[in-house]
Amino acid sequence: MDSSKSKRLETLEEYIIQSQNRFPGATGELSQLLRDISLAAKIISREVNKAGITNILGVDGSTNIHGEAVKKLDLFADQQLISALDRSLITCMVISEENDGIVKLSSQGGKYIVYLDPLDGSSNIDVNVSIGSIFSIYMREARFNGNLKEDDALQPGIKQVAAGYVLYGSSTILAYTTGLGVSVFTLDPSIGEFILSDRSIKMPDHGAIYSINEGSYNSWDLGLKKYIKYCQEQDPDTGRPYTARYIGSMVADIHRTLIKGGIFIYPHSSKYPNGKLRLMYECNPLSFIIEQAGGKATDGSKRIMEIEPDAIHQQTPVYIGSKDNVEKVTEFLETYKKIEQV
Ligand code: AHG
Ligand code: MN
Ligand code: MN
Repeated sequence: MDSSKSKRLETLEEYIIQSQNRFPGATGELSQLLRDISLAAKIISREVNKAGITNILGVDGSTNIHGEAVKKLDLFADQQLISALDRSLITCMVISEENDGIVKLSSQGGKYIVYLDPLDGSSNIDVNVSIGSIFSIYMREARFNGNLKEDDALQPGIKQVAAGYVLYGSSTILAYTTGLGVSVFTLDPSIGEFILSDRSIKMPDHGAIYSINEGSYNSWDLGLKKYIKYCQEQDPDTGRPYTARYIGSMVADIHRTLIKGGIFIYPHSSKYPNGKLRLMYECNPLSFIIEQAGGKATDGSKRIMEIEPDAIHQQTPVYIGSKDNVEKVTEFLETYKKIEQV
């Protein structure tokens, strides 16, 4: 927590306006977009909290483009976010996990493109475990004119103008960055406002927690197997053995990593040859947040945010978290790749 802050509470609305005032030429459109997302987040938060007592809980029956069962709340969150973005006419298109193609909004001339994972960790809905929403915002490039196309949205993560997530946990948290650090807000449900809880969060350079689905151990590369064994070995100097934590909602695992440090890994495997997690609406936005807080994110060799995307729903392996932990796993991957090649 920021100990220098005065007792007066600062709302997300106020914070966004103040941040915008620091940029003399700002049009206020990005600020409006962030406000739209925060409004949808409050509505989703309310539904998530009462999901257990309404029939919104459960499987909707359809499957998304990855062949996974879609829960009703996924669709509710998707609709809320898209309609909030549509209302203010500054976003021309949305790409969402829950929609196969691009979703063109009413304002085709809008200058922003927004990627969404409307509800992340949805397999955890039924068991009352934390879930979240993720967003990633790009400008539509001037070189693209005329009809909106998928190509307009295929930009590398370094071009994100803002990104963030909402975590529906024991409290609802909203974290976002515009490239000037990461600000974190907590929803006070009694007044329906997000209140600033950390102006510019910095994560530890090293953390003693590793987060990976170890059920897939047999299909990992040798370097990754050796790294996880290293995490489990005794070494008081480096705090090992590390603690294992895996929630199964990337947002929640990344939020913990942001606060406590450590590493989150979703590698490629025989089941997921290109990794499971989506580059554009999971890995890029969360990499932007983690980098802005002082951490690192790679696909095992390359920086996530420099990957040139070929498809809006493409997947990637991801190694993300504290700087030292990501560098250490990279050493293991490189060393054992060389050994396997001889
Ligand atoms: P989503 O609910 O948006 O499909 O995302 C689920 C993702 C991610 O949140 C989580 O880290 C990962 O799937 C868990 O996958 P495994 O169950 O394969 O570990
Ligand atoms: Mn997800
Ligand atoms: Mn999802």
